[in-house]
Amino acid sequence: MASGMHQGPDLGRFEESAHALASAARPVCAYVYDLAHLRRQAEYARRSLPPGSRLLYAVKANAEAAVLQALVPVVDGFEVASGGEIERVRKASADAPIAFGGPGKTEAELARALEQGVEVVHVESVNELARLEEAGRRQRRRVEVLLRVNLSEGLPGATLTMGGPTQFGIEEAQLPAAVDLARQCRWASLRGFHFHLLSNQLDPLAHAGLVARYLDHSLAWASEHGIPLSMINAGGGFGVDYAHPGRQFDVALFAGRLEAELANRPGARGVTLVFECGRFLAASAGAYVVEVIDLKVNHGRHFAIVRGGTHHFRLPASWGHSHPFRVVALDERRPGSSRPEFHDCLLTVAGQLCSPKDVLARDVAVERVRVGDVLVFDHAGAYGWSISHHDFLSHPHPDVVLLDDPE
Ligand SMILES: Cc1ncc(COP(=O)(O)O)c(C=O)c1O
Repeated sequence: MASGMHQGPDLGRFEESAHALASAARPVCAYVYDLAHLRRQAEYARRSLPPGSRLLYAVKANAEAAVLQALVPVVDGFEVASGGEIERVRKASADAPIAFGGPGKTEAELARALEQGVEVVHVESVNELARLEEAGRRQRRRVEVLLRVNLSEGLPGATLTMGGPTQFGIEEAQLPAAVDLARQCRWASLRGFHFHLLSNQLDPLAHAGLVARYLDHSLAWASEHGIPLSMINAGGGFGVDYAHPGRQFDVALFAGRLEAELANRPGARGVTLVFECGRFLAASAGAYVVEVIDLKVNHGRHFAIVRGGTHHFRLPASWGHSHPFRVVALDERRPGSSRPEFHDCLLTVAGQLCSPKDVLARDVAVERVRVGDVLVFDHAGAYGWSISHHDFLSHPHPDVVLLDDPE
């Protein structure tokens, strides 16, 4: 285990849930969330970060009500990307701090954000800043602003990058226009800059180097444009190594390097550093648990067809990866009915949709699997349900099972 690693979830709890779900007559199909692990993971990340920094939860990763409620006491607030996410956070907490980001915010969303007491808006364009100022003027409410900047050069490797010729943020050449407008604003007050340039970074030292560049850019722009810099949001991006669950992003190593970088930059003293993480907090707290409905061989390939698929769990299809799973042998399932089985095969796991893309894992070595057994896809708590096209083919939605420590 890497230094500073936090203990992973108790995987046995997900298996126990599979057995419990099998007592129902319908095929097993569920998301199981371990709320106790979720809280521990967030606590670990928060206490590992450099002193004085803030940790927000990026709601887009998993907006389940119980997940938000569990996180209210352990994070410093929530990052949202729509009016709908603002409402969800407000249901979980009347006063948790909210940062509102994402492109294409409508006038109605901006107005609602102000009514709901959003603390800071991550402004994505010069036009959006003008609209936010107008919303503030109408309501006579002040709101803090970070300009989301789109840097393109020299991004380290990661699964997704948002910098460069993408729709996100404001390119450096347009910053002077944004700062000029901010200077004229009375209700929207500029506090600093926001960066979210990549997702799923697995290298903590490379990530610390990137955040150090955010600091350098922000300090330089603040001095060039005379901005009283008080906040830098360094986005999310702490990665999850799906293929090697024991090798996770080492937040302590990241924070140690970042503290050294901060110490070398006296100008950053007094500036609040904010992180808004989704994947790293929520992924390991969830499992997608599905029953094998059918087994077949087509053109030499062994298939398990499960109850569910990418309409519930689109992450593997979206990233083109084969999501690791465990076979849980359910002896109690389907008593009296025949249970076809495969031994020692390379198994491809497909769902119930009419699309060849409805595949969760490909050619995975499996010792034994039977119809009626259950497959547990770990690390499904982030960008699983939340990014999926739930109603394609009108199959039922999965059950949601919440695990927690006894009070
Ligand atoms: C603006 C912004 N912030 C934070 C996040 C969360 O990123 P992650 O889940 O990689 O931590 C995202 C994810 O897309 C994002 O777009």
